[in-house]
Amino acid sequence: MSKVTVVGAGFVGSTVAQYVAEKDLADVVLIDIPNLEGVAQGKALDLMQAAPISGWHSRSLIGTSDYAHSKDSDIVVITAGIARKPGMTREDLLRTNAKIVKEVAEKAVKQSPNAIFIVVTNPLDVMTYLVQETTKLDSTRVIGMAGVLDSARFQAFIGMELNVSCQDVRAMVLGGHGDLMVPLPRYSSVNGIPITELISKERIEALSARTRDGGAEIVKLLGTGSAYYAPGSSVSQMVEAILLDKNRLLPCAVLPTKGEYGLKDVYIGLPAVLNRKGLDKIVELKLTDDESAMLKKSADSIKENIKLMNELLAAAV
Ligand code: APR
Repeated sequence: MSKVTVVGAGFVGSTVAQYVAEKDLADVVLIDIPNLEGVAQGKALDLMQAAPISGWHSRSLIGTSDYAHSKDSDIVVITAGIARKPGMTREDLLRTNAKIVKEVAEKAVKQSPNAIFIVVTNPLDVMTYLVQETTKLDSTRVIGMAGVLDSARFQAFIGMELNVSCQDVRAMVLGGHGDLMVPLPRYSSVNGIPITELISKERIEALSARTRDGGAEIVKLLGTGSAYYAPGSSVSQMVEAILLDKNRLLPCAVLPTKGEYGLKDVYIGLPAVLNRKGLDKIVELKLTDDESAMLKKSADSIKENIKLMNELLAAAV
């Protein structure tokens, strides 16, 4: 059995654990801070007790605050951090989560130097960059989860709009995980039929806008906290693609080391092929001038935040 460590036993982390276990993909180690070790243990035990009913076979599901338990993980998923609270600036969030994610990445990579890291903590693209910098792993082994989630949201909205099963809807959303993400209607279809043939331009624009605000819409409805079912499910799809060596083409936050899309030095959502090596390759699509400009704008904004994060981390030392 493969081993997946999930750091952060909160809403997203425990949902990742659930889907990974239910899909029989791996044994799972859920890690949280010492104060919340009991919570991690309790959730792991609760989940383990669902196994006889749900019929999956993971032999081991543990909750802990001790990274020694994560030794030799195949995959480490980082969900540790805080969600933005009312009154908190983006900068506050960046400072707090950068400190947490850096510490988590350092501890986790010591135990699992051969793992593939999937980063979930927001601001996503910046945190993924930080994990790669901190772990010094090859960038093919550090991947951010956002594109799968943003595309799934777009797919769900397209399915709802047309009253067709979301199963038949494919969609592609690139760019950063935030206001500047780049939904690509031209590359979105219902079983091969481009959505541009099925939905008016105005309605596609409305669905794209709802996708862009997809996270915020849920935050507003929940009152406290943010989304976790779709994020957890998205992570489990990436874990599956990697552990089962599936060569799946999924939009993920990756580092374009060969200057793909005219980009470099920035983690950003691009179409990526995932397999047992982690990122196998980035697939280059022909984008229109508008789409390229949107992607560049998104990359510039992430770069600014990377710069800000480096300043905040340097000031904290
Ligand atoms: N080490 C381990 N766990 C930590 C640490 C740390 N240093 N710091 C915080 N955590 C844990 C918290 O104790 C908490 O249990 O991370 C968990 C985060 O869980 P939630 O607060 O429930 O947040 P969640 O909804 O899971 O979101 C986590 O994913 O989607 C993103 O924006 C979201 O950045 C956020 C992250």
